[in-house]
Amino acid sequence: MTALLHGRCPQLAVSLPHVPLGDGPTPVFELPGVADGASVWCKDESGFGSGGWGGNKVRKLEWILPDVHRRGARKILTVGGLGTNWGLATALYAREQGLHTAIALIDQPVDDHVREQLARLRRSGAALHFTRTKGRTVASAPWLFLRHTRRGRRPYFLPAGGSAPIGTLGYVEAAFEIAEQVSTGVLPEPSHVVTAVGSGGTAAGLALGLRLAGLERTRVVGVVVNDTLRLDAYSVVTLAHRTERLLRDRGADLPPARLAPGDVTMVRDWLGPGYGRTTPQARAAHRLAEGGGWLRLEPVYTAKAFAATLAMAGDRRLGSGPVLFLQTHGPRDEDRGAGLARKHDDAAE
Ligand SMILES: Cc1ncc(COP(=O)(O)O)c(C=O)c1O
Repeated sequence: MTALLHGRCPQLAVSLPHVPLGDGPTPVFELPGVADGASVWCKDESGFGSGGWGGNKVRKLEWILPDVHRRGARKILTVGGLGTNWGLATALYAREQGLHTAIALIDQPVDDHVREQLARLRRSGAALHFTRTKGRTVASAPWLFLRHTRRGRRPYFLPAGGSAPIGTLGYVEAAFEIAEQVSTGVLPEPSHVVTAVGSGGTAAGLALGLRLAGLERTRVVGVVVNDTLRLDAYSVVTLAHRTERLLRDRGADLPPARLAPGDVTMVRDWLGPGYGRTTPQARAAHRLAEGGGWLRLEPVYTAKAFAATLAMAGDRRLGSGPVLFLQTHGPRDEDRGAGLARKHDDAAE
């Protein structure tokens, strides 16, 4: 499918290539009666792309992987926790595109899920470097670059979660989809779009894309679920500015988005004790979504973001709505049985 961004800016088709890995638009539907009469809708990204990863990883990779080729790199160097979904999705999708991946892994509490992720990471063929802490990862960066440079080709670096400007384009594209869904009448114009924030690219891409698509009144609400990175309105809008600069540098002819930190709302009240640690509100939101048969949430990102959506929509902190919850979808262990990881697992066994 042609990227909506290319439809708008045909001059980007060569300078900013896109590889379709999933089918948009992802569905939107109302969640009646979930928040004391407030109008709550969902954009369900769980079916985007193969492998059960959902939009959050795959939309970013649709722009990143062709850019790696365009720069002539053969290897991606990225970073994540020991159980990184981002690192695993990157390794598997990159492999499909003939690229290698190296991952610097930072310690996190090890449970069964993390052990299984590590086993999958090993089977993915990625080179794994156990750098353990953020400080040691930064200190090892020159060595890692050198170690993965082959015949003068340096690895292509991606920060945690793929939240570089190039990955952020994935959610500019999703915002264009939202605008099309509004214009075709399948979605009422949302007053707010609520998303989980782990590394900032999703929120930044949405904020920029909604502006560029003319949905000036729709505000992005980021529910911060990660306390290991600076994630505030300033850092998210800075990433949006860098993404806008990337578009112009590559030749896009676009009106200025003029985003300012006051244009996005970041909330931290649903983080609880920290990244990856659940809360009673997240557990309740998870039960409600699953009990209603609407959504399959996971505990780290989407259950906290849905809990925030219900609370803020319910007490009218988000005005009269409609509020659009973005189901970014993080695969659980059983989801991966159906897709790309399984394909590679089988090949490795
Ligand atoms: C399921 C899910 N939702 C949301 C996010 C947050 O996206 P971002 O890292 O772009 O802030 C992530 C990030 O890892 C995720 O896995």
